[in-house]
Amino acid sequence: MTDRYARFAASRAGRAVVPRLGLPDPPPLRRHSPGQPPLEGPVLLGGGPLVAPVAALLRVDGYEVGTGERYGAVVFDASGLADSGELRALYEFVHPATRALAPCGRLVVLGAPPESCPQPRRATAQRALEGFVRSAGKELRRGATAQLVYVAPGAEGALGSTLRFLLSARSAYVSGQVVRVGPAPVGPPPGDRVALVTGAARGIGAAIAAVLARDGAHVVCLDVPAAGADLAAVANRAGGSTLQLDITGAAAPDALAAHLADRHGGVDVVVHNAGIIRDRTLARMSAAEWDTVLDVNLSAQERINDVLLGEKVLREGGRLVAVSSIAGIAGNVGQANYATSKAGVIGLVHALAPTLPAGTTVNAVAPGFIETRLTASIPLLIREAGRRMNSLSQGGLPVDVAETVAWLAAPGSGGVTGNVVRVCGQSLLGA
Ligand SMILES: NC(=O)c1ccc[n+]([C@@H]2O[C@H](COP(=O)([O-])OP(=O)(O)OC[C@H]3O[C@@H](n4cnc5c(N)ncnc54)[C@H](O)[C@@H]3O)[C@@H](O)[C@H]2O)c1
Repeated sequence: MTDRYARFAASRAGRAVVPRLGLPDPPPLRRHSPGQPPLEGPVLLGGGPLVAPVAALLRVDGYEVGTGERYGAVVFDASGLADSGELRALYEFVHPATRALAPCGRLVVLGAPPESCPQPRRATAQRALEGFVRSAGKELRRGATAQLVYVAPGAEGALGSTLRFLLSARSAYVSGQVVRVGPAPVGPPPGDRVALVTGAARGIGAAIAAVLARDGAHVVCLDVPAAGADLAAVANRAGGSTLQLDITGAAAPDALAAHLADRHGGVDVVVHNAGIIRDRTLARMSAAEWDTVLDVNLSAQERINDVLLGEKVLREGGRLVAVSSIAGIAGNVGQANYATSKAGVIGLVHALAPTLPAGTTVNAVAPGFIETRLTASIPLLIREAGRRMNSLSQGGLPVDVAETVAWLAAPGSGGVTGNVVRVCGQSLLGA
């Protein structure tokens, strides 16, 4: 859908008026396109013990690491900071560099997970990094983003896919996030992968199917039979296949497992994207509106996971990615049913992660305001508020969610599990 205000702000007239009136000024975001340089300038890298492994990793990926007048990214390893006084080093490194950050530049701070620090002072300093990064994300201008990555002891080697994503244009609409990376067991080599995407006929699901296919997976695109024509078009574009199924049906988990096992010998990536809304304030909400939202958005997912995991249809090194929502974090008027289901999805991720076999991961993405048919139906004023109330002053695109899912689903992301990553431009809601 068109963001008319963003177009106005970028026009000649808009550029004259918007700054003078202090109105939101949505910057054009740099998004991934094949063949573009990874960053628009070198990476300024500094700090503690992770500098050497990170520099090696960045150079292998073709990043230029060094000093310059303008930086594509600033990466500071704060994992060695042992008490609050030492946080000054973070200020001293990042303070002068922020002004030299290119448009859509990246600030990434690396830390040690506070829960892994036996010394209270070190844990305190490490926890303090969250406040720094979230503030920086709100201050940076021109589409730049800021993230914190907690790297668990021994996880240096598992950092690559996360760093690559956060530094790249693929994370255009992700900011102010805290990601935890743990050690990744050596999994099976990434061969031909099979991915299942539910709710793939349109919107975010269609974008996820396209991006996973771009990354080399055969995508099984699932949606309700009524969406068959759109589903076929999505699957054709992705070079994948279709499965018409209502995920809430009593026989759906077994039918799905049989399809994946018989036709593909199993599945490597499962993206639980199908979701619905039935908005009404709690006082007016019918039991049917409650039941149907909880069933599609949460219970069906639980039943499908049980079968795919129980029957080992999800192969070794598998990836489960659930689509939650910032409504599940912040709550929302008229969405008690939806927010309950999406908060439940977050609970599911946290509860399931420690129970999975080593190398199998489960994570969630929590989109904010994404330009889809769903958000196009929101009344104008609420829609405008949703678009502007974030650090990037605009809505995200389905591809922004899809790129985030693709990072979590990647073979190299075995150290990323139990995370909930917001794709919301650092929305003020629930922040
Ligand atoms: N659009 C946003 O701004 C936004 C924000 C936060 C979260 N989300 C979440 O992202 C996901 C996708 O949202 P979207 O905006 O693309 O929605 P959408 O309505 O455009 O697409 C959802 C798809 O799910 C399918 N579906 C619904 N019930 C199903 C069932 N029982 N079985 C199989 N398929 C079913 C629908 O047919 C549809 O194709 C949802 O989980 C939604 O809650 C969206």
